[in-house]
Amino acid sequence: RGVPEITEQPAVDHRACGHGKIILLGEHAVVYGSHAIAAPVPLAVRATAQDTNSGGVDMLIPRWGVEYRLHRDPAHRDSFQRSLGIIFDQLELTERSVRIEVFPNVPRAMGLGGSAAMAVAVIRALDQHYQLGLRDDEINALAFRCEEVAHGSASGIDNTVATYGKLLLYKRAAQKGDAPMMRELKLAKRIPLVIGISGKESLTAVTVGKVRNAWQRNPALYDGIFQQIDGLTLQGVEAMQQYDLERLGDLMNICHGLLNALRVSSWEVEELVQIAREHGALGAKLTGGGGGGSIVALCPQNKEKVAAAMRDAGYQAMEVEIG
Ligand code: MEV
Repeated sequence: RGVPEITEQPAVDHRACGHGKIILLGEHAVVYGSHAIAAPVPLAVRATAQDTNSGGVDMLIPRWGVEYRLHRDPAHRDSFQRSLGIIFDQLELTERSVRIEVFPNVPRAMGLGGSAAMAVAVIRALDQHYQLGLRDDEINALAFRCEEVAHGSASGIDNTVATYGKLLLYKRAAQKGDAPMMRELKLAKRIPLVIGISGKESLTAVTVGKVRNAWQRNPALYDGIFQQIDGLTLQGVEAMQQYDLERLGDLMNICHGLLNALRVSSWEVEELVQIAREHGALGAKLTGGGGGGSIVALCPQNKEKVAAAMRDAGYQAMEVEIG
């Protein structure tokens, strides 16, 4: 199925990386002001910066065979250059002679926050290299600008988890420029999940755009769905804090149904969700942008069995714990 190889990185150096993430509840609705719960996963993007005498900014992502010279004039940048180019413009580094090497261990376009993790990793590499002294909130704000270019109307949740690497309840600010609400969720016991990776690449910008078109045609109908997702996300916080995994699983299943109603599921995602449920997951849903990408399954008793069934069907699976 062309599922990319992933290797876990349990001990990532927070200062030099951006964290990958899963969204447990609330994706898409979060773009419209609902709450969402997101958690870091043990996958990260690392980046390094080195002085050169090449006379420009060179970006290398060896794993993806990507290599380019950043165009100084933003008007001449393609979509790939545009998102990371903002970092150099904002930090006034476009005139430097530097080589940025990126080591992505978050699979590309799989709904696991790869673009935000990459932005954070590059900002942190530049921060260290030029000793800019950026605070985490500044890193997060700059990564958000990159995400807006990558996703269209990003909520800011991916870059927030990529920066802080914490399990969070998140709600975007009502007004542009205001700070979003983010609350770290502390749990007495970690929650066991399996991430199923479909191998079907999907750009969040595309699914976010699809939902926006549908919402514009009938705002009242879609606002109703977003409100339901908001309600079940808040119930999800309670369920997590009480370690009521049956309830959390129900909420995940219903959330997946609502995401399906938004038409952001896919053939592969549905298969993964079915496999997880048939092998005893209490809840299973797509995670992130959808349209392919990944799912999360809540598996307190049977993580290995669910992961093995996903692999037998040709997908990739990763067992994680959040909290
Ligand atoms: C993507 O990980 C989550 C979405 O809700 C988009 C966003 O919040 O920016 C689909």
